[in-house]
Amino acid sequence: MDIKGCIFDLDGVVVDTAKYHYLAWKKLGAELGFDFTEQDNERLKGVSRMRSLDILLEIGGLTISQEEKEAAATKKNEWYLEFIHQMQPDEILPGVLDFFNQLKENNIKIALGSASKNAVLILDILKIKDYFDVIVDGNSVSKAKPDPEVFTQGAEKMGLTAAECVVFEDAEAGVEAAKNGGMRCVGIGEQDVLSLADVVVSGFTEFNIENLKAL
Ligand code: G6P
Ligand code: MG
Repeated sequence: MDIKGCIFDLDGVVVDTAKYHYLAWKKLGAELGFDFTEQDNERLKGVSRMRSLDILLEIGGLTISQEEKEAAATKKNEWYLEFIHQMQPDEILPGVLDFFNQLKENNIKIALGSASKNAVLILDILKIKDYFDVIVDGNSVSKAKPDPEVFTQGAEKMGLTAAECVVFEDAEAGVEAAKNGGMRCVGIGEQDVLSLADVVVSGFTEFNIENLKAL
């Protein structure tokens, strides 16, 4: 098989932290005086914290100073962390650990490619950090998805070429980033949102090592 490494986004792929991001942004929106819907939230998936805030403010039609932005982003992150600290390992999405074990048995490397600055903390809370050969997160990249940097770094750190890697992503910007980096991509979610992916599945109960080999 030509696939030697898999790169996983975190939020919405390994664990459903997307719902906690959403709740924290919604709370911030409410405090600023506007409603933030689940549909709006699609635009924030895979997007960095500060860029997410800019999108949120655009939706609410608000302009605030840089200082106020930093305070707002910090506040959102504190609310988000309150949810994260209550998370349990059973919130790992169905089929993920099985798939990780299949990859290990087949000597396929595992990398994390997430825009989140909280990624390592989340892996620790879920007790799955040891599965990862390589971790690339929001602290190590300078360019956000759809720039491929997070995945390109992941491939390089595994010692692999883009063609040897497959990315797993739930965000439109993330699928685009994988394709921009010349990698195959499995979309986790809805076909109409993730149409650029090579294949779209609803989750890892629908995807195993045989499906990977057939990509
Ligand atoms: C992921 C999520 C985004 C989030 C970003 C930054 O990409 O999909 O919704 O904004 O990470 O997360 P952070 O934990 O650093 O605020
Ligand atoms: Mg995601």
